[in-house]
Parts: sequence; structure tokens; C-alpha cells
Amino acid sequence: MHNIELETKDLIIRKAKKDDYKSLLKNYWSKEKTAKFMLWKPIFTDAEAIERIEKTIDFEVNKPCFIITEKSSGESIGMVGFIEEQPQVYGDCGLGIGCDFVGRGYGSQVLSRMLQYLFYECKAKKVIYTAMKENVSSNSLQKKFNFSYVQTVQKTRDYDNLNYEMHIYELTSENYFKTQNQ
Ligand SMILES: CC(C)(COP(=O)(O)OP(=O)(O)OC[C@H]1O[C@@H](n2cnc3c(N)ncnc32)[C@H](O)[C@@H]1OP(=O)(O)O)[C@@H](O)C(=O)NCCC(=O)NCCS
Repeated sequence: MHNIELETKDLIIRKAKKDDYKSLLKNYWSKEKTAKFMLWKPIFTDAEAIERIEKTIDFEVNKPCFIITEKSSGESIGMVGFIEEQPQVYGDCGLGIGCDFVGRGYGSQVLSRMLQYLFYECKAKKVIYTAMKENVSSNSLQKKFNFSYVQTVQKTRDYDNLNYEMHIYELTSENYFKTQNQ
């Protein structure tokens, strides 16, 4: 299930492979700027990246969770994932693009293609998107896709006990298909 490859203009969204660890380490996992608003801890060594890619590969099984690669360079540059929290309700477990690759429209391409996949192919009724309050780019990204604000909750990040406020947004299939038909 979800063992597929999705394509956008500039990107391939696909399952992680063992040898992705090097480019994910270089472009994504070692970037503290990227990790600032995410739940994973930055890592800096090959050994840590090999361990993380193995966990990633296992985690992605049977879930709409993928890595993001750039077509032009062939580099792995980020990750995106959703979890079916309730039947036909998918919540994000992170959308991130390495800081050297942001601001080029890639985040929009990924979210657009993922929403298309979730609503058309997985028959989602609702997709939930979360962003830390201070995360301007992530809060801007969801706006482009007609999500509605639901609530803000207090959370604590596991690895460093950071207390943060998380904005929760949702997009119903009804609202998604409305914008598709405009
Ligand atoms: C959030 C993230 C995925 C957005 O990806 P991106 O490739 O930079 O996004 P885009 O270039 O498609 O931009 C999306 C929209 O947000 C806006 N935006 C992006 N960064 C912005 C910023 N710093 N300030 C204001 N607006 C911003 C863009 O203008 C764009 O809107 P537009 O098309 O109407 O101009 C990316 O910045 C990222 O991975 N950040 C680090 C990890 C993270 O915080 N992930 C989210 C937590 S789950």
C-alpha cells in the first residue's frame, strides 16, 4: 500500500532507499535551520544517518510517507508524510525541504501533489495540517490550499523538551474539490 512514486514539475516523491542517507544527511537532516520547526533532531554523522534511513524505510511501509528528490540534481532534499489517523482522515507527520532548496515553489508542488493523491486516490474525507505558530513559511504554505484553522494546542518536543504552540488546520474533501472545480 502507498508503494508508489509521485511526480511534480521539478520533483519526485518516492519511498526512501538505503543509499539516500548521504544526500538526506547533507541536504536535510544536518540543517539546524530546517529542523528548528520540526520534531526531529538534527544529526551530523554518517552512522546516525544510516540508522535514521533504516528507521525511515521501516516507518514509510504502508503509509503515504515519502522522501522528496529534485529531478535536476537527483539529490534527496526533504520528506513528506501523512498518517491515516482515523478512517479516511489523514494528518501530516511532517513536510520539510532542506533550507538550500526552499522558496522555489517546491513546498507548494509537494503539498499539491500529496493532496491530489490523498483526496483522489486514497479517498480522504479530511486532511489535517499542522504548523508551529512561529513557522511563517509553513503557515503561509497551508493558506494557498484553502485549509481552515481549527485550533492551537500546547505541545512539548520530545528530544529537547521545547514547549511550542501548534496551529492545526484542516481541509475537507468538499472544500478541496470545490477549489479544483474553480
Ligand atoms: C514549509 C516549507 C515546506 C515550505 O516550502 P517552500 O518550498 O519554501 O514553499 P514554497 O516556495 O512553495 O512557498 C509556499 C508559499 O509560502 C510563502 N512563503 C514561503 N516562505 C515564506 C516566508 N519565509 N515568509 C513568507 N512567506 C513565505 C511563499 O511566498 C509561497 O506563497 P506564494 O506562492 O503565494 O508566493 C519549507 O519552508 C520547509 O521545509 N521549512 C522547514 C521545515 C518546516 O518548517 N516544515 C513545516 C513543518 S511540518
